[in-house]
Amino acid sequence: MRGLLDTADLTTAEIVAILDEASTYVDASGVVPTTFTHGNGKRVVLAFFEPSTRTRLSFETAAQRLGASVLVFHVSGSSVEKGETLFDTVHTIEAMSFDTLVIRHGENGMVRSIAERTTMSVVNAGEGSLAHPTQALLDAAALRERFDDVKGLRVCIVGDIAHSRVARSQVDVLTRLGVDMSVCAPGSLDATDGVLASLPRYESIDDALSNVDVISLLRIQRERITGTDLPSLDAYRAGYAMTDARMQAHQRVIVIHPGPVNYGVEIDPGVADSDRSLIRRQVTHGVAVRMAVLNNVFKHRTPNT
Ligand code: CP
Repeated sequence: MRGLLDTADLTTAEIVAILDEASTYVDASGVVPTTFTHGNGKRVVLAFFEPSTRTRLSFETAAQRLGASVLVFHVSGSSVEKGETLFDTVHTIEAMSFDTLVIRHGENGMVRSIAERTTMSVVNAGEGSLAHPTQALLDAAALRERFDDVKGLRVCIVGDIAHSRVARSQVDVLTRLGVDMSVCAPGSLDATDGVLASLPRYESIDDALSNVDVISLLRIQRERITGTDLPSLDAYRAGYAMTDARMQAHQRVIVIHPGPVNYGVEIDPGVADSDRSLIRRQVTHGVAVRMAVLNNVFKHRTPNT
């Protein structure tokens, strides 16, 4: 693996191999307390041009646990604020002998453009509404742990599908693992093209809850919405929110959410805290999956020391 730009670039066998490797890095209590040396001599830089808590911290943790040295490039306070271009920024980082660039950017296509212009391995940490490959892998890891075999599992993605990189990557990974995917979204937030637009649809979360095993909730991405006719909060909660009452009424259903969550919008606090919510376990699997991804990237590089 030279890098990871999109799950579509991985074969299904490669996806399974990453998940199998990641499963060895985690146990019931969390990431296993072992010192890894796979990253010795490797230098990783994290450059996040959009906010992040989970992805940035877990990539940093993963790189450290593998024995790599890791630095965070802070956009705020950098020469980006003096007008330096993204490509000049990347070439400046490259000139300091980093071998792996973990990048988040808001513009679709930008991560691949960077990968084509640098000798560093590039790992996509979330790109516009296009792709969030390691999120999809960690979602799959959490579901595999809960259900053992996810083949035939019924998962419905609910919420702001139109603007969601998580939904695009998740449907790719889970479909290839044999999961039966469906979607549920208000018209103005529904997908209009691609695989997501072709999936079976539920009119409301109540319809979905009667027919699926897992609800995969999405946050409304206000930062990506321009001029869309958003439903009112009341209308959204009536049709699409995972409320405490719905969680009580559907005792079999498991909930996943990439985070951060909007309490009182797509999810109630009691749902997030439920033992049928995998939200915090997803975060733990995020470290393990990112360790597996970085390890596979490191294997294909000679050390920069
Ligand atoms: N799920 C996710 O990408 O979260 P962060 O934005 O906190 O990294």
